[in-house]
Amino acid sequence: MRMLKFLFLALLLALCHLSMAAEKKTYIVHMAKFQMPESFEEHTHWYDSSLKSVSDSAEMLYTYNNVIHGFSTRLTDEEAKLLEGRPGILLVLPEVRYELHTTRTPEFLGLDKNDGLFPQSDSASEVVVGVLDTGVWPESLSFDDKGLGPIPSGWKGECEVGKNFNASNCNRKLIGARFFSRGYEATLGPIDETKESRSPRDDDGHGTHTSTTAAGSVVDGASLFGYAAGAARGMATHARVAVYKVCWIGGCFSADILAAMDKAVDDGVNVLSMSLGGGMSDYFRDSVAIGAFTAMERGILVSCSAGNAGPSSYSLSNVAPWITTVGAGTLDRDFPAYVTLGNGKNFSGVSLYGGKPLPDSQLTFVYAGNATNVTSGNLCMIGTLIPEKVAGKIVLCDRGVNARVQKGSVVKQAGGAGMILANTAANGEELVADAHLLPATAVGQKTGDMIKNYLFSDPNPTATIIFGGTKLGIQPSPVVAAFSSRGPNSITPEILKPDLIAPGVNILAGWSGAVGPTGLAVDSRRVGFNIISGTSMSCPHVSGLAALLKAAHPEWSPAAIKSALMTTSYTTYKSSEKIQDVATGKPSTPFDHGAGHVDPVAALDPGLVYDITVDDYLDFLCALKYTSLQIGSLAKRNFTCDESKKYSVTDLNYPSFAVSFTQGGTTTVKYTRTLTNVGTPGTYKVSVSSQTETVKILVEPDTLSFSQPNEKKTFTVTFSGGSLPSGTTSFARLEWSDGKHIVGSPIAFSWM
Ligand SMILES: *[C@@H]1O[C@H](CO)[C@@H](O)[C@H](O)[C@H]1NC(C)=O
Ligand SMILES: *[C@@H]1O[C@H](CO)[C@@H](O)[C@H](O)[C@H]1NC(C)=O
Ligand SMILES: *[C@@H]1O[C@H](CO)[C@@H](O)[C@H](O)[C@H]1NC(C)=O
Ligand SMILES: *[C@@H]1O[C@H](CO)[C@@H](O)[C@H](O)[C@H]1NC(C)=O
Ligand SMILES: *[C@@H]1O[C@H](CO)[C@@H](O)[C@H](O)[C@H]1NC(C)=O
Repeated sequence: MRMLKFLFLALLLALCHLSMAAEKKTYIVHMAKFQMPESFEEHTHWYDSSLKSVSDSAEMLYTYNNVIHGFSTRLTDEEAKLLEGRPGILLVLPEVRYELHTTRTPEFLGLDKNDGLFPQSDSASEVVVGVLDTGVWPESLSFDDKGLGPIPSGWKGECEVGKNFNASNCNRKLIGARFFSRGYEATLGPIDETKESRSPRDDDGHGTHTSTTAAGSVVDGASLFGYAAGAARGMATHARVAVYKVCWIGGCFSADILAAMDKAVDDGVNVLSMSLGGGMSDYFRDSVAIGAFTAMERGILVSCSAGNAGPSSYSLSNVAPWITTVGAGTLDRDFPAYVTLGNGKNFSGVSLYGGKPLPDSQLTFVYAGNATNVTSGNLCMIGTLIPEKVAGKIVLCDRGVNARVQKGSVVKQAGGAGMILANTAANGEELVADAHLLPATAVGQKTGDMIKNYLFSDPNPTATIIFGGTKLGIQPSPVVAAFSSRGPNSITPEILKPDLIAPGVNILAGWSGAVGPTGLAVDSRRVGFNIISGTSMSCPHVSGLAALLKAAHPEWSPAAIKSALMTTSYTTYKSSEKIQDVATGKPSTPFDHGAGHVDPVAALDPGLVYDITVDDYLDFLCALKYTSLQIGSLAKRNFTCDESKKYSVTDLNYPSFAVSFTQGGTTTVKYTRTLTNVGTPGTYKVSVSSQTETVKILVEPDTLSFSQPNEKKTFTVTFSGGSLPSGTTSFARLEWSDGKHIVGSPIAFSWM
């Protein structure tokens, strides 16, 4: 009997081992299409025979024709290795899971007063913004197509039918909707249709929020429970929207992301907005970077979120130079909710609570850490509060680990009357307002510590929360959000990222009717608009603004549009003080805000742009010492770097400068740049301001005269740097001005 049991166990273990060894994963296979043997008429037959040569049973999830040449499929590690050695195969890369970057905009950006400067319906409505996200809630009022003319004639997109979604859900505003789930389902199994729709429908809210931020129509009288009341509008109100659902409850899978980008470039989008990211990896391994390269070649600007991993350094995602990488700042708007304590003291926090207020009288006040049996009970995780200890009371929970809105739900379910959510050192003074399920307010670390002092020292502590509604005119604004991911760029230190910042804190936009504003299953409220925060929200602002620039200047390349947005960004307040960083309470740096905060009106007329061609990017890849296989995978061509040519990363015609000095004595580095005149004839003079004496900056020539439109002039900047301790950073700024335009570039120095 015992022996039998042992044998059975051994067999079980062996079986486990077998199945583990043969476990299949999704791989993306890059083919050298230019090497296809003539015996094949169809490239798909060639792909298929390559695949069958290593696995009889493997099926293709997708074949890709635009952003890469190749396919995705399920393979064992061994099969993948075998395949990589076969002729015509460039690279075989394992799939990567990406994540969404979540956590009074037009007025703040000066769009309302200056609407007349932007092209109106005709040219603007020719522009299509593609959004890769969680899908769309087509019933959102922001997709009203009143006043829009026929769909642009070149449009090849579709409105795909699926669960809870049919062709009549698209209109002249929402002109395309597709979904991509094969990569997701191959890894995690079939979609649970009780939880999410296998269709373009947005069951999450994120995709409806980002797409309406980029290009939603004007909706008067919008608000969330009365907060942020007014007209809601996207940045490019006349542009068309096409959604590509690639993000599901289990994440956004790269086989699906590539398939969506493959379709989007073919459908005819002009701008791609992607509020998602994965870990940092070389460009030839990163599906977003790979897809964006082809998009760039086809004249499509790709705008991506920088990530919410700030304020640590080196926390960026989406740093390829052909991508526009967007960090987040605040608006001049706040949602105060005050805490009044039993000792008469009054502190301010923020909240979007929309239900019945608390009584004016004081309520018993308790620390969650004193109302629990578990050590991390202060965090208000599910099931950790003892109902008898919190019933009818205000409960103080510490921020961190679980979602902020979930803490509120936990307090509510335990019978608490209200919640004060206190930041710890991890979040410092950063406040994000939430539509909590019970009366609640969020306070910064300093305020939280003062409240705790009272809570721990008073024998009978009491408190209440008073909601202050919406407050406008908050100064200083913008400030860089603490969560916004920061440079330096760990992949290419010579390319400064993020590129710029845009509004990403407490943003009002359209929402899904499938979930409440907190996104929690217990939240049965339904809202047409929601207020949320993240670089996920700042990215579509820039996507929409890029659509406006594309409409105003159809001939501009994606690099020219990005340059215009960057060189006209601002880095100081009207008082000429530098834009602050919430994380430090000090002035922010180009590693936090890139070229600065976007200024769309100035971007319309930048004077000069730093343009970049596809060949320039290929030279850049050579400078990175990429192999022909790697360049082939990214750029889909038989390209060999010229061994006699000296390639330099510092020569990519980028609108900003990042200079890294290595230890040991003086080093001199030279950056070459070329400006293109997109304004009137004029003479531009350079000026440089620098925080450091250690680096000498020489610009040659110091005057550039342009007499023709599109005339190009080249200059060099030589940085001669002394030695400073490793980890030191410093900053400077270079500006060309003709007296009318200022073409500004940030410079970031770091010593390694
Ligand atoms: C790729 O380019 C190299 C060098 O230019 C050339 O020798 C080779 O024949 C090309 N291969 C194909 C398949 O075109
Ligand atoms: C498509 O969906 C709309 C709204 O959900 C519904 O009214 C309509 O009947 C559907 N049409 C078809 C052809 O199923
Ligand atoms: C608390 O302070 C704010 C301003 O800081 C004020 O608007 C509010 O009325 C005060 N509340 C009480 C109850 O004192
Ligand atoms: C409540 O928790 C705090 C912090 O953990 C502690 O200092 C205090 O003594 C506790 N109070 C009670 C009454 O247990
Ligand atoms: C906490 O501990 C008490 C006493 O051991 C127990 O009766 C109670 O169920 C526990 N509560 C929770 C929420 O774990």
